[in-house]
Amino acid sequence: MEPKSSTLEELPNNIPVHVAIIMDGNGRWAQKRGLPRLAGHRAGTENLREIIKACVEFGVKYLTIYAFSTENWGRPAEEVDGLMHILEDVIDQELEELHQQGVQLVHIGQLERLDTSLREKVKKSIELTKDNHRLTVCIAWNYGGRDEIVCAIKRIIEDGLKPEQICDDIVSDYLFTSGIPDPDLIIRTSGEMRISNFLIWQSAYSEWYVTPILWPDFNRDEFRKALIDFGQRERRYGLVIPCQED
Ligand code: IPE
Ligand code: IPE
Ligand code: MG
Repeated sequence: MEPKSSTLEELPNNIPVHVAIIMDGNGRWAQKRGLPRLAGHRAGTENLREIIKACVEFGVKYLTIYAFSTENWGRPAEEVDGLMHILEDVIDQELEELHQQGVQLVHIGQLERLDTSLREKVKKSIELTKDNHRLTVCIAWNYGGRDEIVCAIKRIIEDGLKPEQICDDIVSDYLFTSGIPDPDLIIRTSGEMRISNFLIWQSAYSEWYVTPILWPDFNRDEFRKALIDFGQRERRYGLVIPCQED
């Protein structure tokens, strides 16, 4: 049955601490309207503002957003440039308000390939918001899960770690996401059933929620539905859940 209204009372008690979103479908959203793909990316950015607000409202502590992958550099130059401008505009226009809301901004991925001015803006945003604790928004930009693991291996070797020192926790500490808990829930909009190089280490025991809704249409109420769905999951981590009579 469809959940009815959108009141906080209807949310489950077990709100995920960390929600990660593959914000997919901007291009199709634009195409359906006869608009250029960049119009879809702009609409997707507008939507993100609503989802960040909803995270604060619903008590989600970490939101990771997949916004530009290491593979997305292969798109037409006009689209890549447009996406870089959108990130710059978001920082210029939204940073102060996000800071006021108590949002901490974090970046995962490699900044080196970005233009100097954009790179500096991202670094300044991270510095400005570093003491905010209401919600951490982790922006995956020029991020790839394989690239992250390759970088981690290089740094582990550079630091001279011995094989017997390597364990899950050490590997996690060397990833871009060091210090951030693994995502409890990963949402992918627009219906694709694939990971697309997103958080491939960290998602080992994440719950998945795939919706056909295109990202610019994935509003607060759709987000709430995803949280309700998550609330009904039984997370087993490879164990056996004892029966009531046991
Ligand atoms: C997701 O939307 C945003 C980025 C990858 C930057 P897409 O641009 O992938 O949209 P579709 O999948 O073509 O509809
Ligand atoms: C994943 O979407 C990357 C982002 C949302 C930033 P893509 O649209 O790039 O992924 P594929 O090509 O469908 O796997
Ligand atoms: Mg896509």
